[in-house]
Amino acid sequence: MSKKMKGIILAGGSATRLRPCTKVTSKQLLPVYNKPMIYYPLNTLIKAGIKDILIIVSPERAGDFLNLLGSGKEFGVNFTYEIQDTPRGLADAFIVGENFIGSDNVAMILGDNIFEDDLYESIENFEKGGMVFAKKVSDPERFGVVKFDKNMKAEKVVEKPKEWISDYALVGLYVFDNRVVKVAKEVEPSERGEIEITDLQNFYLQKGELEVAMINGAWLDAGTFDSLLEAQILAKEKLQDKMVI
Ligand code: TTP
Repeated sequence: MSKKMKGIILAGGSATRLRPCTKVTSKQLLPVYNKPMIYYPLNTLIKAGIKDILIIVSPERAGDFLNLLGSGKEFGVNFTYEIQDTPRGLADAFIVGENFIGSDNVAMILGDNIFEDDLYESIENFEKGGMVFAKKVSDPERFGVVKFDKNMKAEKVVEKPKEWISDYALVGLYVFDNRVVKVAKEVEPSERGEIEITDLQNFYLQKGELEVAMINGAWLDAGTFDSLLEAQILAKEKLQDKMVI
């Protein structure tokens, strides 16, 4: 029998690019049209059939998330909360989440990423290795980027490349098997002092076990004022009938 899929929403961080709006609240609690931002990644996980969801938050805002989201009963799922005491990097989600993940597989989504696509099938069919999702963008230097060879086979993944290597950004949804916890613990911090999710992706890539699927619909990382504005419009015009929460 295939393993259970658990979900993590990474909703800590410092959100410096949205100051002063994030001085007294979290980015993921800011409104995106008619809902708090975190509802959108939460909706993506719930629609993918995930029932057990860990919400990772910063210590200053833990109470606000708990007040907003509660136990998960209202949404038909179970929430667990963990505090990330400092923003050590995206790969830290799998260390903070170790007990929650247990021996299961895990889909981690960033709390400021907004998807139009339903990813139910990809997540439902996942068995082993790693699976990430790519989208062609005009500003790849802002993201983790995947380079493909001429047969569109993934060759390598690079975090925020200073020199152009590809137009395909890896979006903020990552599905891994249980090995990810051990791999995350072995990753050394990068020059910017974070443990990078790209190191986890490259671990699976080097073993030939990283699947890269394309995202067809709209995708936004709502972490800057311009992308937040775009997210508001996307939410109003295209996402309303996709929300189950
Ligand atoms: P980022 O947008 O890369 O970082 P940030 O939110 O701290 O913002 P800024 O760069 O403006 O200071 O983070 C992406 C998502 O991951 C976002 O939802 C915050 C979350 N995050 C954590 O929860 N912990 C972390 O250690 C990091 C790096 C990010």
